[in-house]
Amino acid sequence: MSATPKQLPSANRQFVLAARPVGMPKESDFSLVEAPIPALASGQILLRTLYLSVDPYMRGRMTGVRTYADPVNIGQVMVGGTVGKVVQSLNPQFQPGDVLSGYWGWQEYAVSDGGGLQKLDPNLAPVSTALGVLGMPGMTAYFGFRDICQPKPGETVVVSGAAGAVGSLVGQIAKIKGCRAVGIAGTDDKVAWLTRELGFDGAFNYKTTNDYVAKLKELCPQGIDCYFDNVGGPVTDAVLPLLNVKARISICGQISQYNAAKPEPGVRPYIYLLSKQCRAEGFIVRQFADRFPQGTAQMAQWMREGKLKYREHIIEGFENAPRALIGVLSGENTGKMLVRFAEA
Ligand SMILES: NC(=O)c1ccc[n+]([C@@H]2O[C@H](COP(=O)([O-])OP(=O)(O)OC[C@H]3O[C@@H](n4cnc5c(N)ncnc54)[C@H](OP(=O)(O)O)[C@@H]3O)[C@@H](O)[C@H]2O)c1
Repeated sequence: MSATPKQLPSANRQFVLAARPVGMPKESDFSLVEAPIPALASGQILLRTLYLSVDPYMRGRMTGVRTYADPVNIGQVMVGGTVGKVVQSLNPQFQPGDVLSGYWGWQEYAVSDGGGLQKLDPNLAPVSTALGVLGMPGMTAYFGFRDICQPKPGETVVVSGAAGAVGSLVGQIAKIKGCRAVGIAGTDDKVAWLTRELGFDGAFNYKTTNDYVAKLKELCPQGIDCYFDNVGGPVTDAVLPLLNVKARISICGQISQYNAAKPEPGVRPYIYLLSKQCRAEGFIVRQFADRFPQGTAQMAQWMREGKLKYREHIIEGFENAPRALIGVLSGENTGKMLVRFAEA
């Protein structure tokens, strides 16, 4: 049952939180430390991390405030979704070479009793997709859009953060559902990707557009029926006046506010929701966890049918994890931001 790996290093490299960031995180907010790799007890496995998922929510965990999850403490290993390979096993359910997804955070090795881990089949899809289109961001797009926006054919859907892991999938699902999809993103290359490769009907660069309302009016001549909000802030302020009667807003994220010390003043939304009888609903993806198998099956089917494309922005090397988080908060990524620690 046990296999001795050929070249296990003597120490496990980890990133721990060193300081609570003020504004945009800095690389010095993290410390690279080394911890011993413990000998396995019966029932345990040793995993070598292949991929780390880098997600905007990590910024929230770095503050000392509990939101819907506990914050990371100073000196604690940073949390995060991971994919890794079993290199040693004293657990009959796992064999060396098995590839698993889990949540063991920013470290090169992890010991686990197998709880909360999922076996991946590398023949079905690249294992990295368990952190993207077939993982948490994919489920966020699928359930957050489908359940909350309840899109109908012919409706106009606007997606902010449209070229990211979640947003790029939401726009494509909108097209699959027969809607008009309009995206908002932060570079011309992202806008071109959305309209030329992903089938969005329109998109614009919010960093080079002065009048968001005028641009949205041009791209959404029938008004807006569904708004999938990843960013909040001035972009969302511009969407509100263009909502149609009975429009639905899925409040997925507010990334424009994550580095702010206090909430930025903005438009008060209720008057728009009231006058157009709209519904705005926030969600946390894990509320849909019991239906994830259904969601991944549907996303995988759309991928096989060529209806759903995904892109990964892969940064090489464990030591670049802090830079990757700063990158995702700065818009460096197109599609899903990942760090590859080792080849599968
Ligand atoms: N509710 C949930 O359960 C749940 C689950 C997963 C994710 N989320 C949220 O969904 C959103 C997208 O997550 P993701 O993983 O797909 O990340 P992502 O979109 O792949 O990456 C974040 C993107 O946000 C954009 N951005 C950064 N600062 C911005 C600003 N000030 N204004 C507008 N856009 C800005 C950047 O793209 P640009 O170049 O376009 O600026 C960046 O690439 C985040 O807000 C995240 O917190 C929520």
